[in-house]
Amino acid sequence: MNRKYRKTIIAGNWKMNMVASQVKHFAEELKTLSPRAKWCETVVCVPFVNIPAALKAFKDSRVAVGAENINENEKGAYTGEISANMLADLGVKYVIIGHSERRQYYGESDITVNKKVHSALKAGLYPIVCVGESLEQRELGVTLELITLQVRTALAGIPAEKMRRIVIAYEPIWAIGTGKTATAEQANEVCNAIRTVIRKNYGARIARAVTIQYGGSMNEGNARELLAQPDIDGGLIGGASLIPEKFAKIIAAANQDVI
Ligand code: PGA
Repeated sequence: MNRKYRKTIIAGNWKMNMVASQVKHFAEELKTLSPRAKWCETVVCVPFVNIPAALKAFKDSRVAVGAENINENEKGAYTGEISANMLADLGVKYVIIGHSERRQYYGESDITVNKKVHSALKAGLYPIVCVGESLEQRELGVTLELITLQVRTALAGIPAEKMRRIVIAYEPIWAIGTGKTATAEQANEVCNAIRTVIRKNYGARIARAVTIQYGGSMNEGNARELLAQPDIDGGLIGGASLIPEKFAKIIAAANQDVI
């Protein structure tokens, strides 16, 4: 983390878990456990149908609500899809784009990711753009080239003045939901490489200000060490974000409090 130059953001990704009627209880517990995040911004990214309940439950708190996906088009004949505008209209702030599960199961390419980033920004949302390598790619030694390409493609055509809205999440695929975490050094190396790509394209001032999260089995036990790295400015958390006690401890680690 580097609180001087950029925001620390702890974001939960509920994936396809929880039903709307569980949201209120979750929110009450989290608010009790984590009354005031001093430094870090806290986000819960929830399934579409849970969004109204989450907005209501977190209304009086500093927890922002995010979505887990959007369609890349502004509107039209795309049965079953949800646009960025629809989310912005509800009061959603963040949206996860290009999560590896979307890439793997729903065929999202870097080009689709780029279109979604443009759509999200146009609607006024804050995209959390996910990038990450597979185990095979890491073992082949192509991680940094691959991540560079993913970041450059995701950000293609994004003007400098919009960059303050973008969050990048480095999520090695082999660490997601597996209990295997990248070491703090491995994670920081890639987050630093991402900042270098941004610096080359947008200059030092913007690169210094972009929040870069780590995701992949981040939990209450390893968060502090990961977040102590200079280029890791937060976390995108799956499993541990579903349990208020665990999520609150990660938020506390970002605030360097002990609870
Ligand atoms: P995990 O998921 O924390 O359960 O590994 C992270 C993510 O997919 O964003």
